[in-house]
Amino acid sequence: MLSMTQLTGVFIALKEKLKAFQIQTEAAIDSRLPDPGTRPARIHTAMRYAVMNGGKRIRPVLLLAASELLPKNANPEAAAVAIECLHSYTLIHDDLPCMDDSDLRRGNPSCHKEFDEATALLAGDALLTYAFELLSREYVEHPLLANKLVSDLAFAAGSLRLIGGQMEDVELAGKNLDHDALLFIHENKTAALITAALTMGLRFCDPKEEQLSLIKKIGYHLGMNFQIVDDILDATTTAETMGKPTGADAQAMKTTYPALYGLADARKEADKHTKKAVQLLDTLGGNNEFLIKLTQELEKRAH
Ligand code: IPE
Ligand code: IPE
Ligand code: MG
Ligand code: MG
Ligand code: MG
Repeated sequence: MLSMTQLTGVFIALKEKLKAFQIQTEAAIDSRLPDPGTRPARIHTAMRYAVMNGGKRIRPVLLLAASELLPKNANPEAAAVAIECLHSYTLIHDDLPCMDDSDLRRGNPSCHKEFDEATALLAGDALLTYAFELLSREYVEHPLLANKLVSDLAFAAGSLRLIGGQMEDVELAGKNLDHDALLFIHENKTAALITAALTMGLRFCDPKEEQLSLIKKIGYHLGMNFQIVDDILDATTTAETMGKPTGADAQAMKTTYPALYGLADARKEADKHTKKAVQLLDTLGGNNEFLIKLTQELEKRAH
């Protein structure tokens, strides 16, 4: 049993490591995104605007942390940048008037508000493409690894996963709430990319099949938790805290846990997923302390 002082120490260590991973991610992105002045300057300015703007960097942090679960044999930084570029593209497109029609992102005007819809659409397209360019170029010395990273990310981002989740999210807005649809939307629009982050990170450690299968289950539970908490925060927090509009899901009649089951049961469901992810991380073993603590903290996040 840890004493209070030891527990506080563990908490501080988590915060410091999280900060270190975030700083590492920011620097890695900054050094890899095209210079904003590169012609056409408008697209490269918009790409930077949408990525270098204070996101929590959860996916790259998960990727970097998973790469440290076991001894690694290549540098995961470029993969961390790739997944954040891809995630930022999904946010740009998610905010467009034809999707969630959202004017605020990460505390700033969303990309189409700062620029225009055509520029936002193209900046999203460019970031999506750039993610795969980075993976194929930076891991050219590790062709098997590059192939697996590309495959993990492409699968998670494709029509069976992230895009499929986004499709039903939009298609079913305003319709009758349905449990199966809720699971499908959450698993695919969000848990798939969180799963890819952890899986891609572990790829750097040359994992065994059982370890890969465990990390995918962990990603599922962590990702489900992440979207349920996002939905809870949308219903309970201010736009100022979130850096994006709140109350938006109820207004658009989105399929969310709070809408279908109420806040109390949504919280219970989020907790169930956290506990399951922690239990599986424990089974996976290795250098899992940071990921266990981060999983527990993510449930308590305020934005
Ligand atoms: C927002 O993701 C979209 C969801 C899947 C809930 P994040 O909450 O990770 O957003 P940023 O990257 O920190 O802005
Ligand atoms: C977005 O879900 C998931 C993706 C962008 C793939 P939300 O629509 O709930 O995300 P926010 O709340 O706008 O960040
Ligand atoms: Mg959405
Ligand atoms: Mg949205
Ligand atoms: Mg949301």
